[in-house]
Amino acid sequence: EIDLGIRLLREALDEVAPRATSTETTRIVMCPPSRFEVAYCINPWMAPERWSAERMALTATASNDWALLRSTLEDCGAVIDIVPPEVGLPDLVFTANAAVVLDGVALVARFRHAERQGEELPYRRAFEKLRDQGKLRAVRLMPDDVVLEGAGDCVWDKTRNLFWVGYGPRSDRTAADVVARTFGVEALPLELVDPRFYHMDTALLPLPRGEVVYVPSAFSDEGMALLTSRIGAENLIPVPDADAAELAANAVVLGDNIVLGSCSDAWAATLAARGYRVRRTGLAPFRLSGGSAWCLTLRLDLKSKASDRARQ
Ligand code: ARG
Repeated sequence: EIDLGIRLLREALDEVAPRATSTETTRIVMCPPSRFEVAYCINPWMAPERWSAERMALTATASNDWALLRSTLEDCGAVIDIVPPEVGLPDLVFTANAAVVLDGVALVARFRHAERQGEELPYRRAFEKLRDQGKLRAVRLMPDDVVLEGAGDCVWDKTRNLFWVGYGPRSDRTAADVVARTFGVEALPLELVDPRFYHMDTALLPLPRGEVVYVPSAFSDEGMALLTSRIGAENLIPVPDADAAELAANAVVLGDNIVLGSCSDAWAATLAARGYRVRRTGLAPFRLSGGSAWCLTLRLDLKSKASDRARQ
């Protein structure tokens, strides 16, 4: 009888307040690379001929490294949700581009290039499914005429409670306004000027203690001025060009772990000196497409300060 009472009480409590675990789990969306290849060229990294020449080896490495990335993230406490791969959509693996997600709301991406526009519908379906499973509250769409390539160009800065929005090569400057309206938070546009860093997630990485790792060549003077005034020079950590060119800034940060593809020992030591632990997962085949660890993931559980307060 006591057991029954406790069970009923628990159920009643669950109805008023969802269990802490459902909102505090680190949730990450990934898409397995079984259909991944470099079949077209929409950024300076992509060389379809190089891919074809080594197709067998690259496919095998892609699959092993992706599995290592997944298990490393799981080892850091993340729970992975899967978007199924689709024939003819090789870049679907880059789930960072699928949407911008905050406070349980997913704003589904709109892509610049025809080669990737076919991903919009499968991603939308995937998010609607996650919503139906209770892992999201709502799914929103971009206006027809505004490009925003998801979290690839829209990076959450938890310390400052705002989004940095990269624009130029892919996303539109006006996407920042859509983001601000959709999520009710500040969204600051930064122009991208180096073709190698065509998505902002290749060039900007906020860390949990308020530091922001960035690639100096990637931003316009105006963008640099904005970064410096909002972040403070003392908190801006430049990535050496050789590491930037390995996409070392394209990393997933979980607590003090920085999960990335590859970087120099010197860069790992710089981060270690600040209390972070670098975990390398390879990912060379994905760099041939212009992507690395962050690109292959999308956080579903990010929260703004307002929503964090509302839950307490
Ligand atoms: N080949 C893909 C493209 O050019 C790579 C996307 C990488 N994703 C990212 N979030 N940076 O669109």
